[in-house]
Amino acid sequence: MKLSVIGAGHVGLVTAACFAEKGHEILVAEHNVERLAGLNRGEIWFYEPGLKELLHKHVAAKRVRFTSKTEEAVDFGQAIFICVHTPPDPQGRPDMTYVEAVARTIAENLKDYRLVVEKSTVPIKTAERIKRTIGRYVKGDVHFDVASNPEFLREGSAVEDTLKPDRVVCGVDSAKAESLMREVYKGFDCPIVVTSVGSSELIKHASNSFLALKITFANWLARLCEASGADVEQVVHGMGLDHRISHHFLGAGIGYGGSCFPKDVDALAHISEELGVAAPIIRVISETNKSQLERFYATIERELWVLNEKTLAIWGLAFKPNTDDLREAPALRLIDMLKKAGAKLRVHDPVAMPNTRKVHPDLYYANDPIDACNGADALIVCTEWAPYKQADLAKVKATLKVPMIFDGRNCIDRKRAGELGMTLFGIGKAPIKPGE
Ligand code: NAD
Ligand code: UDX
Repeated sequence: MKLSVIGAGHVGLVTAACFAEKGHEILVAEHNVERLAGLNRGEIWFYEPGLKELLHKHVAAKRVRFTSKTEEAVDFGQAIFICVHTPPDPQGRPDMTYVEAVARTIAENLKDYRLVVEKSTVPIKTAERIKRTIGRYVKGDVHFDVASNPEFLREGSAVEDTLKPDRVVCGVDSAKAESLMREVYKGFDCPIVVTSVGSSELIKHASNSFLALKITFANWLARLCEASGADVEQVVHGMGLDHRISHHFLGAGIGYGGSCFPKDVDALAHISEELGVAAPIIRVISETNKSQLERFYATIERELWVLNEKTLAIWGLAFKPNTDDLREAPALRLIDMLKKAGAKLRVHDPVAMPNTRKVHPDLYYANDPIDACNGADALIVCTEWAPYKQADLAKVKATLKVPMIFDGRNCIDRKRAGELGMTLFGIGKAPIKPGE
């Protein structure tokens, strides 16, 4: 099939590459000239494992092409996938400016039937608004449908998630739309869940908020463990063996970040309240998440006493491993707090340092994790990248001025740290202190 993708971002590019892998022919429209120029040189403006290779393969085979003209994409595909960003506005509501603009462009360039597909994460009833907008601006009597097809990929494993999804959700309100969506996903080996458009839109916000709720529950449990002497990893292990609960997304830490959970949880609360349904269970997720990082900072401050002029090493800047995405990254919030307190920071991240340098040009960007520790009064771990989990703790100890680690992701080898006589603070676990 010929398919169009609007927005060459984290979702759009992965969608394009994966649809091409399944045999479709794709035209991607991107209006950011710098990003587009990069794509035409074979460069992707963000880091996503496996994406570059897959995209190169299909660009070379002419199954994926790029354009700066969104109107060209309206003409090209039988289905047009809207993959533009929906960032939060200052009140935490999703800003629909970009989706609305695409709807108008589609309307103004629509000549024949097209299936317009929302892949961006949008509030329930957005399809109705897109329909109304296209209806208002379209020239002549052209038929179209609007479907919802939420995206569930995770950054860092986006290609794998998209090629082998747990399920594909298609919200449709006509037989023609359903049949086109089934054709798009013919090559995917997973359940295709067909729902009403509104249910599909809600599935996305509900799924993200539920996952964020699980993490938040684990983070609250961690507080209870710290207060009671229990160990959160042991507790969630015991819970997660019950397959109704599972171990997924019960990892306690310094809170969730990223471009989705924080914004989608707030959006769901707004959507619900605007519909007259109070959402205390959703509101508490984001409040608890914010205070989780503040508690971590309080532990650091309590242990180190005066932070002014202290040198601190930070491992991990991205909001999670295997991405260079800094959107809502806990490390960035922590850096702001530590800088305000006068600390000097030596930071490291395998891929997110160039992006961090744009916001914090004044930090020391280390050549490697050990270099970050050089002469530092303590090490703080914000992201559980594999090299940090496997780090040689003897070397870390020898390089730090004080052998103390604040592990915000419970990823450092506790046994080894204890054997080496290091001090280690985790989340929801008793600290390891030499001689205790
Ligand atoms: P992004 O910011 O990475 O990419 C969006 C792209 O769309 C940008 O490159 C932007 O320049 C382009 N764009 C905007 N308006 C355009 C227009 N009119 N014509 C052409 N290009 C245009 O955003 P993203 O992270 O890919 O997210 C896209 C949507 O998918 C959001 O609604 C998000 O909530 C949702 N989502 C994101 C993820 C994720 O992991 N990032 C996962 C699932 C769902
Ligand atoms: C999320 C959803 O998982 C995905 O389905 C959706 O399409 C987009 O939003 P993403 O934000 O890429 O994906 O990453 P994810 O792996 O879900 O992690 C989000 C945040 O939660 C990260 O900051 C991560 O560190 C944190 N997290 C995750 C925890 O703190 N504990 C966990 O157990 C899991």
